[in-house]
Amino acid sequence: MPFHSIRFKIVLWHMLILSLALFIFGTVLYHNFYLKASDDTDDILRSRAKGFEQSINTYWEAESMAIAQGNRRVHFTKEDNINFIRLARRWVEEKINDPDLINIVVRIFDAHGNPIASSRNIPIAHLNESIFHNVKKGADHFENVFLMEDEKPSSFRTLTTPVMEGRRLAYIVQVASPLSQIHTVLRSLRLSLLVLLPLTVILTGLSGVFLVQLTLKPVDQMIETIHQIRAENLKLRLKIPGTRDEIESLARTFNEMIARLDEAFTTQRQFMEDISHELKTPLAVLKGELEVTLKKIRSTQEYETAMHSILEEVDRLAGIVGNLLTLARFDAKTTELDAQPLDLNALIKDAIEVMQVLAIQKDITLQFNSAHTVDITADKNHLRRLILNLLDNAIKYTPPGGKVSVDLRQQKETVDLDIADTGVGILPKDLPHIFDRFYRIDKSRRSAGFGLGLSIAQSIALAHGGKIEARANDPQGTVFTVSLPLKPKQVIEF
Ligand SMILES: Nc1ncnc2c1ncn2[C@@H]1O[C@H](COP(=O)(O)OP(=O)(O)O)[C@@H](O)[C@H]1O
Ligand SMILES: [Mg+2]
Repeated sequence: MPFHSIRFKIVLWHMLILSLALFIFGTVLYHNFYLKASDDTDDILRSRAKGFEQSINTYWEAESMAIAQGNRRVHFTKEDNINFIRLARRWVEEKINDPDLINIVVRIFDAHGNPIASSRNIPIAHLNESIFHNVKKGADHFENVFLMEDEKPSSFRTLTTPVMEGRRLAYIVQVASPLSQIHTVLRSLRLSLLVLLPLTVILTGLSGVFLVQLTLKPVDQMIETIHQIRAENLKLRLKIPGTRDEIESLARTFNEMIARLDEAFTTQRQFMEDISHELKTPLAVLKGELEVTLKKIRSTQEYETAMHSILEEVDRLAGIVGNLLTLARFDAKTTELDAQPLDLNALIKDAIEVMQVLAIQKDITLQFNSAHTVDITADKNHLRRLILNLLDNAIKYTPPGGKVSVDLRQQKETVDLDIADTGVGILPKDLPHIFDRFYRIDKSRRSAGFGLGLSIAQSIALAHGGKIEARANDPQGTVFTVSLPLKPKQVIEF
C-alpha cells in the first residue's frame, strides 16, 4: 500500500481521529473515576467520624455517671480531663479489632492538638499546625497527607473534625483512609486504558485496511481495463461493479464517456471513408478521360473538348474539397464569424434574384412573400450561402411546373425563414439523416451533388446560435425552416 494511495490516507486519518477520540474518552473516564472515588472516600470518612464521636460520647456519659455517683465535686467537662483522656485511650484500644476500623485509622487529639490516642502504629505527633488552625474554628478539614505507618510512608486521605462541648472545643477526632486502594484501582484502570486503547486503534486500522481494500477493489479493476482502452478498441467497456455507490456511478459515467468517444471516432472514420470514396469517382473519371484522349493523336478540336470536360471534373473536385474545408473549419471552431448588422429581407431578395434564372429554366415558380426589413446581426456571406444551398435544393428536387415559396417571419427574439417546395419530398426514414455529410437519398443521380450542402447549411445555422429543421410540406414537397437569433449570443457553442 503506497503512502500516497487513497487507501493509506483513509486508514491513516481514520486511525488518527480514532486515537484522538479514544484519548479524550480515556482521559475523561479516568478523571471522572478519580473524582468519584475521592468523593466516596470522603463520604465514608465523614460517616465514620460521626459514628466514632457518638460512640465516644456514649462511653463518656456512662463513665461520668459512674464517677459522679462516687464524687459529687468532679467536673464533667471533657476538655483537659484526665478521665476523658483515659477513656479515649481505652476506647481506641477496644476498637482496634473492630471490623469497622480495618481500613480506617482513628486518632484523637485534645483541644490543643496534642495526641491522645491512635488506632495504628503511627508515630504520635502534635496535630499539623494548619489543620489545627482550621479545626479550631469548628470546621471539618480534608487533606491528603503522608503518614509514617510501620516506618513506611504511605499516603492517606484524612478528615479532621472538631468535637464541641457547648461552645468550646472539647477534643479532635481524625479519621484517615489509606489512598493505596484507590491508587491500585486507578493504576489498573490506567493500565487497561493504555493497553486497550492502542489495541483498539490497531484492530480498527487493520479492519480499515481490509474494508478499504474491499471497497476499492473495483477501482483497481477499472484502472486495469482503462489501461487497455485505445482508439482502436473503444468498444471495450468497464465491468459495472453493482455496488450501488459512487464507484458504480463512476464506472457508468466512464462507460457513457467511452460510448460518446466511440461514436465520435466512428463518425470521423466514416467521414474519412466517405471522403476517399467520393473523391475516387471524379478522379477515376479524370484518369479515364485523360487515358482515352492520350491513346492517339487528336485534332485541336478534340483536345479542346477533352480539356473542357476535364476542367469540369476538376471544378467538381475543387468544389468538394472546398466544401470539406469549410466543414472542417466549422468542426474545429476556427471559423470566425464576421457578424454585422444586416437586413435579412434584402439578403433573401438578392439570393432569389440569383436563383431565379435556374427556376425559370426549370419552369418553377420561385416566390418570396416579402416582409418589411428584418434587422439581424450575422455573417452576411455565410448566411447567403445557407440560403443559396436551400434554394438550390428546393429547385433541384422539384420537378418542372412546381413551386418554391420563401417566407420570413420575425418573432420576439428570433427570425424564422421557411423555404417550401412542392417537389419530390423526403421520406420520414430519411429525414433524420439529410443533414449528415455525404448523405444523398438518390445516390444514382450524379449531377445532384455530394450531399454536403445541408451539412454546411446546418453548421452555419448552429454557428449563429440558430437551428435548421425539415418537415414534409402539405400536400407534397418539403419545408425547411431556419431559425436564427436576432442578436447572436456572446459565445456560440455548436
Ligand atoms: N428540398 C428537398 N426536397 C427533397 N429532397 C431534398 C431536398 N433538399 C435536400 N434533399 C435531400 O437531402 C439530400 C442532401 O442534401 P444536400 O446536403 O444539399 O446534398 P446535395 O444537394 O448535394 O445532394 C439530397 O441528396 C436530397 O436527397
Ligand atoms: Mg444541395
